[in-house]
Amino acid sequence: MEKLSGKRVLVIGATGGIGSHTARLLKSSGAELFLMGRNASKLHTLAEELDIPPTHHYITDITRFDEVQTAASQIHSQIGHLDILINAAGVGIIKPLESLSPEEFVYSLNVNLVGAFYVLKTFLPPMKEHKKGLIINLPGVLGKTPMAGAVAYSASKYGLNGMLKSLREELKRTDIRITNVFLGGTDTPFWDTIDLRVQRDKFVTAQEAARALWFLCQQPSSGVVSEFVLQPFNHQAI
Ligand SMILES: NC(=O)c1ccc[n+]([C@@H]2O[C@H](COP(=O)([O-])OP(=O)(O)OC[C@H]3O[C@@H](n4cnc5c(N)ncnc54)[C@H](OP(=O)(O)O)[C@@H]3O)[C@@H](O)[C@H]2O)c1
Repeated sequence: MEKLSGKRVLVIGATGGIGSHTARLLKSSGAELFLMGRNASKLHTLAEELDIPPTHHYITDITRFDEVQTAASQIHSQIGHLDILINAAGVGIIKPLESLSPEEFVYSLNVNLVGAFYVLKTFLPPMKEHKKGLIINLPGVLGKTPMAGAVAYSASKYGLNGMLKSLREELKRTDIRITNVFLGGTDTPFWDTIDLRVQRDKFVTAQEAARALWFLCQQPSSGVVSEFVLQPFNHQAI
């Protein structure tokens, strides 16, 4: 296992269920933590809880390239490059095509795919110069297995998975590792607005999902965990 102590780690979507628990674990393991989130009050509360200084947390909407660039240049001016980048930002609009609006489709792609591209575009170059690093994204099982009623979400997450697989090929001559995490149903605020018959008490907990990310951050850099799957046994409501 690689030590996290002193590693420079950015958690994007840090205000979310999985992001916030991952941030707590990383902080308790001694990482130099940077947080990025869209919701200012949630981000400040988390930063205060974890004693993260203002230089290390950024209110950023990842669908705004200018905002991602500003945060990235401030982070890079302090540390040069990140050791680990975790993108745990995402939105879950899970609806069948007939009730899905064009705006909801575009919004899903903007956050889950275009935003993830903006993040890579800004944070990868310094990592590439250093030829080392770990990039973790969360396409989820709906990024590789179809489900009825998930047109927009699956489009965005299959796209994310494809983008990262292609990038992995581009980075073959470096020691930059790309890990795609395929979580099944995980009990976070993500599900609060989703109208599906599921049993959230049978989901993976946010803490368990965060522990998986924390575990992945500590894998030896001599190899790469390309894919990691964590699913509940069964959560279909009867
Ligand atoms: N929960 C699951 O069952 C599950 C399963 C597979 C994969 N995933 C993926 O895991 C990731 C984390 O999900 P979660 O379960 O922790 O959901 P969550 O609790 O809803 O957290 C998602 C986070 O993403 C942030 N976010 C959304 N749009 C953003 C934007 N434009 N810019 C910056 N941040 C933005 C949200 O910020 P706000 O607080 O401002 O909304 C929130 O903090 C997502 O990518 C999700 O697709 C989740």
